[in-house]
Amino acid sequence: MQEKFLYLFCFFFCSFAFPTNVIERFIWNTKHIDFEVICEEEDRVMFFKLIYDTVTELNKGVGGQFLEWKELSPGEEYSKKRYMSFVLEKNGCGETDAVSKGGFYVPLSTSEKCSMVTNLRNLMASLGFIYTHLRQDRDQFIIIHYDNIYNVDKQIYQKCYDCMESTNSAFSVYDYTSILHFPQYSIYSKNASAPIFTPKQNNVEMDETWNDKHFTSQDALIFKAIYG
Ligand SMILES: *[C@@H]1O[C@H](CO)[C@@H](O)[C@H](O)[C@H]1NC(C)=O
Repeated sequence: MQEKFLYLFCFFFCSFAFPTNVIERFIWNTKHIDFEVICEEEDRVMFFKLIYDTVTELNKGVGGQFLEWKELSPGEEYSKKRYMSFVLEKNGCGETDAVSKGGFYVPLSTSEKCSMVTNLRNLMASLGFIYTHLRQDRDQFIIIHYDNIYNVDKQIYQKCYDCMESTNSAFSVYDYTSILHFPQYSIYSKNASAPIFTPKQNNVEMDETWNDKHFTSQDALIFKAIYG
C-alpha cells in the first residue's frame, strides 16, 4: 500500500532519471549522417554492400529508418564538421573509435571471426551507444568475475562516468541480452569456460556468446528514445 502511494506520489512529483549507456556528445542530433568509405578500390562494391546490409539490419532491428545516410563525394570530407568513416576490416573485428572531428572510425568486418552482430554493435557505438555493462547501475544487476579477466582488460569494464541520464522509461530496464551487452563468456578471459559475468537476479537469461545475440525489443526502445 505504502509503495503504491509512493509510486503515485512520484508519478506526479518526482522526476526519475535513469542511468544510460549513451554518451550525449556522440549523438547525431541532425539525424543525418555523412560518411566516407575506406577500403581498397577493388573491395569498394563489396564493402558498400556490407555497409548497406548493416544499416538495413539496424533498421530492421529498431523497426524503421530513423537516420539518413549519405556518402560524401571525394574531397567533400574537408568541408564537413562531422562524419563517419567506415573502414573495411578483413582480419579482426575492430572496435569503433571516436575521431577528433567528432565522428567515428567504424570498422565493419568480413572476417569469419566476427559476425553481423559485431558490425551492428560497432555501428551502434558510432551513434553514441556504449556497452550496457558500463551503465552506472550495473552492479545492481551483474557480478563481474575480475579473477577471470586479465589485468590489461580490466579497463574495458570500468563504468561510464560520462554517460547521460534520461527520464525516458526505455532506460528503466537493464537489458542483459542487449546487442550492446557483453555475453557471459569471453574468449579473451583467462578461462573461456568460466563466465565473466553472473546475473545477480535469479531466472535471468544471458547470451553465452556474441553469436547468440540479436537486436532486442529493448534495444529498439533505447534507440528510439534517442533517435525516434
Ligand atoms: C575453467 O572453468 C571451468 C568451468 O568453471 C572449470 O570446470 C575448469 O576447471 C576451469 N579450468 C581451469 C584451468 O581453471
